[in-house]
Amino acid sequence: MANVERVFSGVQPTGNLHLGNYLGAIVNFVKLQETYNCLYCVVDLHAITQGVDVWGGPSQLARTTREVTAAFIAAGIDPKKHIVFNQSQVSGHTELTWIFNCVARVGWLSRMTQFKEKAGKDRENASVGLYDYPVLMAADILLYRATHVPVGEDQKQHLELSRDIAQKFNNDFGDSIRGHGFNEGLFFPQPEPLITGPATRVMSLRDGTKKMSKSDPSDYSRINLTDDADTIAQKVRKAKTDPEPLPSEEKGLEIRPEADNLVGIFAALSGRNKADVLREFGGGQFSNFKNSLVELCVTKLSPIASEMKRLVADPGYVDAVLVDGADRARAIADETMKLTRDIVGFIRKR
Ligand code: TYM
Repeated sequence: MANVERVFSGVQPTGNLHLGNYLGAIVNFVKLQETYNCLYCVVDLHAITQGVDVWGGPSQLARTTREVTAAFIAAGIDPKKHIVFNQSQVSGHTELTWIFNCVARVGWLSRMTQFKEKAGKDRENASVGLYDYPVLMAADILLYRATHVPVGEDQKQHLELSRDIAQKFNNDFGDSIRGHGFNEGLFFPQPEPLITGPATRVMSLRDGTKKMSKSDPSDYSRINLTDDADTIAQKVRKAKTDPEPLPSEEKGLEIRPEADNLVGIFAALSGRNKADVLREFGGGQFSNFKNSLVELCVTKLSPIASEMKRLVADPGYVDAVLVDGADRARAIADETMKLTRDIVGFIRKR
């Protein structure tokens, strides 16, 4: 079993998919299909790491799992050429997590900033699953021995942890790995993060210093992929700005996080750079710029929203995509798990 170049990434089915998920991750998922074999996973096991009040209970989980799947397909992911599935259907994710739990160190996990943010002040009351979240993420990637992982900037630290886990596993079990025919001692590859945008960190529309996020209580902080044209217009018009006109050069955005964010969104959606956008809108009022931004958002997002609507109205089709994807994912995962069990020394039926 040779290491081949392969892309893996995941999206949590919690709450609303938004422009940050789209520009930070999904646009790249679509692009990478041309070059790699790709697996795109709806990470439902990750979704339940926070309280049931956050993920909304069983019927909500099924609904949001289908919605993320629909978003993948509506954005242009081809589930026939590539693999689209939900994590819980492939048991290798949890089995490999356990093995990695015994490789990863408590000190490594204690440094994870996303855990600190999500657990908040009441850390004693956070689930063990939330603490272990990045280990499950490493298992997701390495179960397919994926080499490239497209993500937004907020996942960088988790990707570094995945690399550390891969390396420590290869070191801890080096002799056994070589004994199983991997002469270089490299069983798991070092997965490479692809943090290439078009926008790697989209900020809240209400506060340019905070990340746009599914869990922000204010719906006005984000543009959801399912928002209709009127909602998008309202949100963009209400987006926080400052009293100055737009600068003509990028340097003028440095201490203006809200302006920087809106210009960045415009640039990412139009495939231009910020300097180019400012050449067109610099010196002008925000209201003009916002009108053009509304138009751009609606043009780019409404075809996705209407295709998502069509797909979620057909849960039978969406579920069939996930089952078929899971069957194909499992075939790859089973190979990795068989070898991993042998490398660790677990006895199994031959
Ligand atoms: P999740 O569901 O929070 O986000 C999905 C993807 O969207 C990116 N993203 C953003 N990018 C730019 N600006 C933003 N404001 C923004 N918000 C979110 C995220 O970086 C991510 O790429 N832990 C992951 C899911 C996961 C995963 C994996 C990813 C589970 N296993 C294995 C890669 C490989 C997460 O919570 O994503």
